Amino acid sequence: MFDTKPLLGEEAPSVYNTTHRRKTVYAVLKAVAVAILVVSALVYSGSSSHKPAPNKKNIIFMVTDGMGPASLSLARSFKQFRDDLPINDILALDRHLIGSSRTRSSSSLVTDSAAGATAFSCGLKSYNGAIGVDPSKNPCGTILEALKLQGYLTGLVVTTRITDATPAAFSSHVDYRFQEDLIAEQQLGEYPLGRMVDLIIGGGRCHFLPASVDGGCRADSRNLIKEYTENDIWSYVGNRQQFDELDGGKNVTLPLLGLLATSDIPYDIDRNPKQYPSLAEQVKVALTALSKATEDSDKGFFLLIEGSRIDHAGHHNDPSAQVREVLAYDEAYKEVLKFIEDSDVETVAVSTSDHETGGLVTSRQVSPSYPDYIWYPEVLLNCSHSGEFLTSKIVSFTRSNSDAKVVEDFITKEIFQNDMGIQDATAQEVKDVKENLSTPGQLLYVLNNMISLRSQTGWTTHGHSAVDVNIYGAVSNFGSIKTQLYQSAENVGLLGNHENIEIGKFMESVAGVDLSKITELLKDTKHHPSSVDEINANSFDQYHQTQ
Ligand SMILES: *[C@@H]1O[C@H](CO)[C@@H](O)[C@H](O)[C@H]1NC(C)=O
Ligand SMILES: *[C@@H]1O[C@H](CO)[C@@H](O)[C@H](O)[C@H]1NC(C)=O
Ligand SMILES: *[C@@H]1O[C@H](CO)[C@@H](O)[C@H](O)[C@H]1NC(C)=O
Ligand SMILES: [Zn+2]
Repeated sequence: MFDTKPLLGEEAPSVYNTTHRRKTVYAVLKAVAVAILVVSALVYSGSSSHKPAPNKKNIIFMVTDGMGPASLSLARSFKQFRDDLPINDILALDRHLIGSSRTRSSSSLVTDSAAGATAFSCGLKSYNGAIGVDPSKNPCGTILEALKLQGYLTGLVVTTRITDATPAAFSSHVDYRFQEDLIAEQQLGEYPLGRMVDLIIGGGRCHFLPASVDGGCRADSRNLIKEYTENDIWSYVGNRQQFDELDGGKNVTLPLLGLLATSDIPYDIDRNPKQYPSLAEQVKVALTALSKATEDSDKGFFLLIEGSRIDHAGHHNDPSAQVREVLAYDEAYKEVLKFIEDSDVETVAVSTSDHETGGLVTSRQVSPSYPDYIWYPEVLLNCSHSGEFLTSKIVSFTRSNSDAKVVEDFITKEIFQNDMGIQDATAQEVKDVKENLSTPGQLLYVLNNMISLRSQTGWTTHGHSAVDVNIYGAVSNFGSIKTQLYQSAENVGLLGNHENIEIGKFMESVAGVDLSKITELLKDTKHHPSSVDEINANSFDQYHQTQ
């Protein structure tokens, strides 16, 4: 940086020269010292080791959709059996259990995911089907919006459609969860608050594309992906290869729209890793990108993470798929723990469920005589695909093969023996499959029931239940949130048994925001269905029963 040669090369020093030279040396040394100070100050402020602003926080909210306490017993025992682990080997989540949550909505003792998520996002009870609106259908300010308006960055990471109930209730306001076209528009910023979301990674391209485009299902002709990415308003990734170019989150341009599937990302048990990332990989990208982008800010980020399809496995009464979904979520939770440990920004993660699904129990009476006290995880281990996957496999096989003998062979050898690990299928079971080939929804139940019976896993419903669900929490070991987290409800903590809205209130309190102020800004939001036809076409039963 400084060429010192002329100095060293000077000759015949006079007194004057010596003094001059000394002065010059001092001047140069001073300049070097100042330069070092300036450079080191620059490096320091740009490095992750600098002290973050005193009130800087990251808030991570994690939802296990449809996961009740029995799902954990099932997954834990399954993992111990599979990996030959001792009985004290527990899940990462297990170490952070702090309370439980009561889940009823304003319209029913049994909630759906829309009302469940609105309880978290707005901190209020609403009716089944409500997305970010109160019982009178007025849009309510969400924790994500409040934090974004304070200067936080925000993200949504899910394994279902990004327009589905849980992510929607944080980032949009509509009367009914089936208004997914409108939800997509709002998530991109088309409502009074403008764009509130900085990062989206999940499935659900369908409601961003017109029906005329492959994989699209919008009722209008808009191509939102084209509209928003053409002008570089959002950066976009739509497949595994593009996801990998995000380089674990180090190569992300925000806002990022990551839509990795037309609808749901496949169940973890069926997932081809060459085609789809795991939830843990999605989470890692989000945490890296959001923490990097807030590095020089005095505000952190808010991230919603959902293990969305635990719920679907519950609806399907599919224990083989469910244990893998829970374990995939536990891996994602470990990513969050690692982040909290390494981050010098105070970070809190709260993980809970909106409700239980399936009425799952880890035992089942399978004969008239008094039952044995046992269930068999090995049956779930031997089954290598979900009922959903196998149903499509059977349906597409029978489309091109109508010969009865060929179909029966395929069902017993390929499906039962090979894919499900069932060697003792009965003639009645083969008959049940053959008789339900034209009704995939029923066929799915036949297959999953074969696994549930043999493993002695019990289910009481294909819908949701009202059983209390667990609350887990992890927090930096510095700062003040850690004290608050382990307090009871009266002190806006999460210890003990809570109404689900108290979890929303906890986040509101930690963030130091007032959601009612956001509610005022939302008055002009378009949130009604566009026509009565739309309501009729999506009758309550239809949307309620499928999620
Ligand atoms: C970063 O992303 C760009 C596209 O946005 C891509 O061209 C480039 O290859 C990526 N870099 C890495 C290291 O993956
Ligand atoms: C699981 O598969 C193994 C290997 O094929 C077999 O020995 C075992 O009997 C199966 N277990 C059950 C419960 O079907
Ligand atoms: C399969 O089909 C038969 C005949 O249509 C029906 O009686 C049965 O209930 C179906 N199985 C299931 C699980 O719904
Ligand atoms: Zn559900």
